[in-house]
Amino acid sequence: MKRVGVIVSALALALSAFSALAGGGHSQKVQYCSWCHGVSGQGFATAPRLAGQRAEYIENQLQGFRQHTRPGPFMWNTAKNLDALDAGDLAAYFSAIPPQAADDGDRVTASTGKTIYQQGIPSSNIVACAACHGPNAEGIREIPRLGGLSASYLKTRLDQWAHGNLASASAPMPQIARQLSAADIDSLASYLSFVK
Ligand code: HEC
Ligand code: HEC
Repeated sequence: MKRVGVIVSALALALSAFSALAGGGHSQKVQYCSWCHGVSGQGFATAPRLAGQRAEYIENQLQGFRQHTRPGPFMWNTAKNLDALDAGDLAAYFSAIPPQAADDGDRVTASTGKTIYQQGIPSSNIVACAACHGPNAEGIREIPRLGGLSASYLKTRLDQWAHGNLASASAPMPQIARQLSAADIDSLASYLSFVK
């Protein structure tokens, strides 16, 4: 209940600060994002970490929210009120902040997650995540950094794709996630939450 209370009050504050987006300057916009994404964009119960994320990826996601090709009603209005210049500016700003790891996964299953991340599961035709997301999950170009994102967020994203939420079907993740079992997803999310 406590966590729900925190989320509700963060949302209320964010919505009351919404006008800052339309006419405000850079620091007001950053402040607005922080209501949900946490101080310095390090992530919060309501929304994932933006700090250290690839700038190209952030811009692509903002466009996805604007066009409703990515689900996430809390972001739809926000993205609608940002023009391409603001989106590029905020993406550059957050990507330059050194990220902190969420460290909120399960230590026991994390070692299985590490093996899948680095080697895939050849017998099930699952390719190594490292091939695209980088050896230390740091991301490259428009492919996102996964290291240190919160386990619950990572799990939600992989579950969305695994269960065929076509509204979020941007290649190649839905196809990859559909081949992962629930236990694979839990272990990957745990492992990645600890990566610095
Ligand atoms: C009212 C709360 C709220 C506010 C304010 C908000 N966000 Fe978000 N944002 C969210 C939530 C919730 C998600 C996760 C959506 C999902 O479940 O996929 C998210 C996701 C994102 C993502 C995708 C991250 C990823 O790893 O894929 C980006 C990028 C983003 N927000 C940027 C911003 C920016 C930039 C601002 C400020 C202009 C902002 N957000 C303000 C709630 C918010
Ligand atoms: C062939 C390249 C490729 C491989 C292999 C791959 N990914 Fe991805 N992944 C991507 C791309 C591209 C995106 C961004 C999609 C978008 O822009 O919406 C992505 C996005 C993600 C996201 C969303 C991150 C966020 O911030 O919301 C997660 C989680 C993810 N991948 C996990 C994995 C895991 C776990 C594996 C291994 C089982 C994996 N990926 C393998 C290319 C790949």
